[in-house]
Amino acid sequence: MTRTMNIDPTQLQDLQTPCYLYDTQLLAATLKAISAETTGCANYHVHYAIKANAHPAILRQIAAAGLGADCVSGGEIEAALQADFPAKEIVFAGVGKADWEIKLALKHGIGMFNVESIEELQVINELATSLNIRARVSFRINPNVGAHTHAHITTGKAENKFGIDMEDMVRVIRLAATMPLVEFTGLHFHIGSQLLVMDDFKALCVRVNELQEVLDREGIYAPNINVGGGLGIDYDTPDAHPIPDFRAYFDAFKQGLQLREGQQVHFELGRAVVGQMGSLLTRVLYVKHGKQKQFVIVDAGFTDLIRPALYGAHHHIENLTTTASETAVYDVVGPICESSDVFAKNLELPLTHRADLIAIRSAGAYGETMASCYNCRALPQGVVV
Ligand code: LLP
Repeated sequence: MTRTMNIDPTQLQDLQTPCYLYDTQLLAATLKAISAETTGCANYHVHYAIKANAHPAILRQIAAAGLGADCVSGGEIEAALQADFPAKEIVFAGVGKADWEIKLALKHGIGMFNVESIEELQVINELATSLNIRARVSFRINPNVGAHTHAHITTGKAENKFGIDMEDMVRVIRLAATMPLVEFTGLHFHIGSQLLVMDDFKALCVRVNELQEVLDREGIYAPNINVGGGLGIDYDTPDAHPIPDFRAYFDAFKQGLQLREGQQVHFELGRAVVGQMGSLLTRVLYVKHGKQKQFVIVDAGFTDLIRPALYGAHHHIENLTTTASETAVYDVVGPICESSDVFAKNLELPLTHRADLIAIRSAGAYGETMASCYNCRALPQGVVV
């Protein structure tokens, strides 16, 4: 059996599949790389986007490394607090925050809300007033920056549902200033996910700088600039790039952002932190010889990892059991009763047999958190090694 991640191959045999395997050594190295690129910048705050992976042990490790949390639901705020992320380091985004979620965030004194509409600002104001708790709010501005990624995961363009239009920004900030228990804390941006072209982040910086000039003219100071997340990972060759290029990423902001005195910069990285440290482990149930194709039918389906079915995403796939030099071309498919339940088409693998272990790599982000129970299937378990 070949080695995957930092796991003793004999350990793998006993695992109940499908399951997610998380390599905490790689996570530690990734967190170290982030801190190496940000230590000189006291005004840089990196928040981990919990939506990428909310396994409790993973959250604890990330919190212990000193990152803050980026949450999009009351459940994520609770998970962050349980993992010991300090409340003050929590930012709370999302276009549809429910009243109970806003109240929960207020009661715990989170760092700031990323507010996405005037309607939401009004509700936060009402709830803050009824609880007599101060709400710190940043406004998510839709920067209308097109990013090079899949259409379903771009968010910064004008036609997306996210954020407030740039033209409305000053009006919204002025409105917030009339609300006694609302404190304006800054601006929030997020242009999309799985971005590998640094020019996208540079374009965001240019837009932020333009907006800051508008604010200067209006005499408005934004203490915090949150540039969101989005740094991508190498899905094609994960072993060549187990840790994303954090230097190039942070350099884009170090060089691109024209900050005012005292301004704090916030980042919300999800995939780049946890993507490469996770693999979905699955076992071959059958190798089916069809008329035109051979199918490797595995025990994981899109209920366990939906990215290929939902976004046409590519994940590198390995057979961990065999080292056979003879190969064949297969479609790797799951057991779900839907024809979209396909992990790869026309993939060359070593000759594969029933009971072989297959690793679907780069699945640490948006894998386990997006799993479902469709077909009354059990949720995959996350195993930390
Ligand atoms: N901040 C905001 C406001 C976001 O909407 C997101 C992700 C992040 C930060 C973290 O982005 P990241 O650094 O992970 O790219 N399920 C999709 C990705 C959806 C991303 C949603 N927003 C996928 O599997 O590719």
